[in-house]
Amino acid sequence: MTLHALSIDDERHNLLLIEAMAEEIGLAVTSAGIPGEAVAAFNSGDFDLVFVDYMMPVMNGIQVIEEIRKTRQDVPIIMITAVSDDNDLKLRAIKAGATEFLNKPLNIAEFKARVTNLMDLRSAQLLLRDRARLLKSEVLLATEKIRAREHETLTVLGRAAEFKDEETGAHVSRVAHYSRLLARGVGESAESQEIIFNAAPLHDIGKIGIADAILMKSSSLTEGEETDMRRHPEIGYMMLKDAESPYLKAGALISLSHHEKFDGTGYPHGLKGEEIHLYGRIVALADVFDALCSKRPYKEPWPLEKILRYMESQREKQFDPVLLDHFMRHKEEFMDIFNSIQDSW
Ligand SMILES: [Fe+2]
Ligand SMILES: [Fe+2]
Repeated sequence: MTLHALSIDDERHNLLLIEAMAEEIGLAVTSAGIPGEAVAAFNSGDFDLVFVDYMMPVMNGIQVIEEIRKTRQDVPIIMITAVSDDNDLKLRAIKAGATEFLNKPLNIAEFKARVTNLMDLRSAQLLLRDRARLLKSEVLLATEKIRAREHETLTVLGRAAEFKDEETGAHVSRVAHYSRLLARGVGESAESQEIIFNAAPLHDIGKIGIADAILMKSSSLTEGEETDMRRHPEIGYMMLKDAESPYLKAGALISLSHHEKFDGTGYPHGLKGEEIHLYGRIVALADVFDALCSKRPYKEPWPLEKILRYMESQREKQFDPVLLDHFMRHKEEFMDIFNSIQDSW
């Protein structure tokens, strides 16, 4: 890779000399005779090295260095000084950010040795920068993979819980998608949307703790069996509540609250309105909508119009009106999710 230097000097013959010497060590050079313009050129270009004369009209070398250092800390800067310049000047240049000095008249051997060193330094900087970028993109990619896998694991867990029930695997995935859409619709942060997307599949995880005879019963449940069945929100909550993962923690909340109703007639706690966690209110709506769309052993899928009428009839009864509004405005997107995620068996 060819490195590119910016050379700033008000004297044309010095610029030509540097160009010629740089060419010998494979360094490309852009020359600039006016310091003010040179700083602008530096800021709009991608230079690896800077040569700057000290004694120039309007703006001296130290001022140029100070300007450059305002935006770029890493690029090596070589200041060209006269032998007669004192140490105090060099000290000020170093404080301003000079990396190296060359004395006039320029000596080719010294030029090669010092500039080659700085080119090596710059190459190492670039290599490090590229590695850091590569690493960052690899980390992002790996994080994305882990996320996808985590979502898959949580979905499978949710499916396992619903497997013996009338619900299907696709139901669990669709509820996750509807829930994310609702969370977005009511202005939840991207992080919160991601949490509910991953936690919603766990809403019925507590059914693992319900007897098969009840879960798989084809006739209606007795009062005692119904009471047992209604324990699944709390069972799920107990399973998940102490977890560290934000997804599992949210899963606990969702499990506990997905059968609460907005008017306070739900279970297990008969919570009302915003006493019910937002995630629970969201999943409650998503879960019911999907059940109405789906074929179950005891019912055919409802036509859309009947579903919408039912949903609307439950405004402020079963459902949060704000969520219902959002659902009604975007019903096509909800239907798209239902149609695109279907079981393959
Ligand atoms: Fe449930
Ligand atoms: Fe469900």
